Amino acid sequence: MDATRNIVILTGAGISAESGLATFRAEDGLWEEHRVEDVATPEAFARDPVLVQRFYDMRRAGVLAAQPNAAHHALARLDRDWTGDLLIVTQNIDDLHERAGAHRVLHMHGEALGAWCTACDARHRWTEPLSDNPPCPACSEGALRPDIVWFGEMPYGMERIFAALADADLFVSVGTSGAVYPAAGFVQAAAEAGARTLELNLDRSLGSRLFDETRLGPASTLVPAWVEEVLAR
Ligand code: APR
Repeated sequence: MDATRNIVILTGAGISAESGLATFRAEDGLWEEHRVEDVATPEAFARDPVLVQRFYDMRRAGVLAAQPNAAHHALARLDRDWTGDLLIVTQNIDDLHERAGAHRVLHMHGEALGAWCTACDARHRWTEPLSDNPPCPACSEGALRPDIVWFGEMPYGMERIFAALADADLFVSVGTSGAVYPAAGFVQAAAEAGARTLELNLDRSLGSRLFDETRLGPASTLVPAWVEEVLAR
């Protein structure tokens, strides 16, 4: 019996690419059309809130129109059938893991379908635009922002993530370029804790050399095959 008990999976934009959601650093990627500093920083929001709200209104609408793909469904199957610890840490702001049926999911960069009131700190599930400044359901102030972690802000769940990495026997990275920290450093934390590390990605990422094994291909092919392998052990 394989000794793997505790698995941590990190997902990035690449796992949602085949659901039609743009990644960030490809030629037609989100950061090719918008400068990060214009739409994904607290300073940008203070400078031009309508531009930032419109950028996330578009991404929220895109998420609602997208469907989970075979990779999301495979991870949901693993979540259902895996009796050990499992944590799917996603950098993605879409809810495709959850819509595929996964439960043990942590959105370290926040969620497109979340609104956060800067007046009363309440958080709400949100599917409508925010650029028309709707009132907060809790305090009625027109102070809602996307519940997204912008550059320069602290990602969510870091304590829980590093605790899971410290206990991990296996760390699997799916569809991420390894360009943004702290997520890009998780493979080292897992390896230091003695975990085996596997990368499933379309292209070699910036951190590929840090992994025990890299498999190249689309997530919709690689992830179901890997889940089959892990559950068959
Ligand atoms: N299957 C698997 N991998 C894919 C696929 C696919 N179909 N399509 C693209 N990829 C891979 C690319 O090869 C690339 O390595 O997904 C990765 C996407 O990289 P990025 O666009 O940099 O996205 P990500 O790694 O998630 O970015 C991390 O950066 O801008 C911030 O907050 C943003 O969460 C994001 C973070």
